[in-house]
Amino acid sequence: MRLSLRRGATSLLWLLFLGLLLKVLQWLQDCSSGAHGSSNAYVLVRDRQNKVHGYNHSSPLVFVGGVPRSGTTLMRVMLDAHPDIRCGEETRVIPRLLGLRQGWAVDRGERQRLEEAGITQEILDTAVAAFLLEVIARHGEPAPLLCNKDPFTLKSAVYLSQLFPNSKFILMLRDGRATVHSMISRRVTISGFNLSSYRDCLTKWNRAVQSMFSQCSQVGSHRCLEVHYEDLVLHPRATLQRVLNFLEIEWHEGVLHHEEAIGQPGGVSLSRIERSTDQVIKPVNLEALTRWVGHIPEDVLADMKSIAPMLRRLGYDPSANPPKYGKPDAVVINNTDRVLKGDFKIPSSLKGQPQQVHFNGTVPGR
Ligand SMILES: *[C@@H]1O[C@H](CO)[C@@H](O)[C@H](O)[C@H]1NC(C)=O
Ligand SMILES: *[C@@H]1O[C@H](CO)[C@@H](O)[C@H](O)[C@H]1NC(C)=O
Ligand SMILES: *[C@@H]1O[C@H](CO)[C@@H](O)[C@H](O)[C@H]1NC(C)=O
Ligand SMILES: *[C@@H]1O[C@H](CO)[C@@H](O)[C@H](O)[C@H]1NC(C)=O
Repeated sequence: MRLSLRRGATSLLWLLFLGLLLKVLQWLQDCSSGAHGSSNAYVLVRDRQNKVHGYNHSSPLVFVGGVPRSGTTLMRVMLDAHPDIRCGEETRVIPRLLGLRQGWAVDRGERQRLEEAGITQEILDTAVAAFLLEVIARHGEPAPLLCNKDPFTLKSAVYLSQLFPNSKFILMLRDGRATVHSMISRRVTISGFNLSSYRDCLTKWNRAVQSMFSQCSQVGSHRCLEVHYEDLVLHPRATLQRVLNFLEIEWHEGVLHHEEAIGQPGGVSLSRIERSTDQVIKPVNLEALTRWVGHIPEDVLADMKSIAPMLRRLGYDPSANPPKYGKPDAVVINNTDRVLKGDFKIPSSLKGQPQQVHFNGTVPGR
């Protein structure tokens, strides 16, 4: 009697142990199959011919980003001119949501409160992926390859690469002196940048580009491509060939004439109030390459190496004003001549009402 009781208890313990072991194994498997793999968001969009296009988290996507004023708009309009790619205007909400998502993960107290409410990191990832997919897929026309251009998304390239396993990234890089001169002279407010100080803006540029550069390296060269703005404007054909090869998309001559595709079906959709619109309505030209020269204070130039060490790392000589960016292709010289003659005005096919924009960048009545 005693013996069988003990045997029964032992068997019971074994059963309990086996049950636990099974649970643990199941849990481990769930984890390794990827929290992100469980996303089942599915977005349907109709095109002009009423054909339905479906997107899910494993659809191919491309994210274009970089520090603002680094040629991200030029890159996206050139891609938009390809019939198989659609980027569209900046969504503005995507980088904000990514910032919030990061906050929920990094703040330990908040993370614990969420976990206790049953809101796991996995639920948040699934919800973020669904939100992103919805916004990316539905704010423009459908296309085989959807693209998103919100400059700061590249700060979250690693996270995005996990949410969307077939996504790719294009990091636009530009001489920080030109980037900063552009934001200061055009009064483009960027949170954290003090537009009254070249020194402050170059410091912040350095920090931002360093973080994006590191994210891009972590994602790896098969999924994140670095493109220098200077290469894009000096050698548009060769640079776009490299980009389309990377995206595994066939070559199309249209990408070299994005200005002709503005407002066309399947072409380039532009908003009147985006800050680069007045520039990208023109063909690729050299206007903006060295405009910064002569505008940066002497004391900032003298400390350039230490203020912005990323310049050298990205291949820009910090003590040359300007450095040698290279010799432009003939077609670009021709474009630049036409642009200087004033051949290009904002076309009437742009979206939105014609709007007066104050010199300080604000729109009246907003
Ligand atoms: C996601 O879409 C792709 C096509 O882009 C399709 O092949 C795949 O079956 C879809 N996956 C799911 C889980 O719906
Ligand atoms: C921005 O820079 C200017 C010039 O250096 C300085 O006077 C001003 O206090 C700075 N503003 C802020 C908010 O830091
Ligand atoms: C410059 O471009 C225009 C328009 O594309 C073309 O008509 C012209 O022949 C070109 N000129 C040269 C010198 O290539
Ligand atoms: C921008 O300029 C307009 C007109 O000059 C002015 O009314 C507005 O207050 C300014 N906005 C800012 C943010 O400085």
